[in-house]
Amino acid sequence: MKKLLIVANWKMNMLLDESISYVKKLNKLIKGIKNREVVICSPFTLLYPLKNALENTNIKLGAQDAFYADSGAFTGEISPLMLKGIGCEYVIIGHSERRQYFNETNETVNKKLKAVLDNNLKPIMCIGEKHSERQADSTFDVIEDQLLVGLRDIPKEKLKNLIIAYEPVWAIGTGINAVPSQAEEVHSFIRKVLEENYGVNIKILYGGSVTQENSKDLLNEKDVDGLLVGGASLDVEKFAKIIACGF
Ligand code: PGA
Repeated sequence: MKKLLIVANWKMNMLLDESISYVKKLNKLIKGIKNREVVICSPFTLLYPLKNALENTNIKLGAQDAFYADSGAFTGEISPLMLKGIGCEYVIIGHSERRQYFNETNETVNKKLKAVLDNNLKPIMCIGEKHSERQADSTFDVIEDQLLVGLRDIPKEKLKNLIIAYEPVWAIGTGINAVPSQAEEVHSFIRKVLEENYGVNIKILYGGSVTQENSKDLLNEKDVDGLLVGGASLDVEKFAKIIACGF
């Protein structure tokens, strides 16, 4: 049985005290569940206290973004080197909200991925089409472009740490998830593009309105190796049920 990767994306939510109570409770709720890698991607301010709170648990820590330089005059930014230094293991790169509100492009995603991989962190690279792109039948073109430009000039041996999250933009925070067959169709396409161009077979997560109700069917698809969960991850009981689904 494959080990599933279940990632919480808290986005810009959670204060210090509630985040600590959350992870303590989560750790209790998921004790004994095997074959899952669980990651919490918290706001930057919570990473260090969470790192301490997660000691002696199997829950891993992730950030939601990182800049593409290790240090320098980039006011307000956080570098992969800094994340590595506090024991962060994963980092989301190129989330659609960053593309939409902060003008990130496939080119900036490429720079950030290089910096993150150079620091031996595990990037969760988000890709996905908008509603209008799906309507225009260009989903596969958009996905291929995001992959090929985003991964340009990254040596194959570095890609073993890469994780892809397929997150159709129309499914994020809308309550309308991709149905399992829609997710599988795109996941298998992503796997094919990665195999053909880089000869790698890596984990591909699905994200976009994942709930405890739809998680099992999504995870049953052959090419869905895990989930990236936004809204439903803010409620510890719901997130624990998503992690436990199938048991
Ligand atoms: P959602 O968000 O689960 O609230 O749709 C997913 C994401 O943006 O990663």
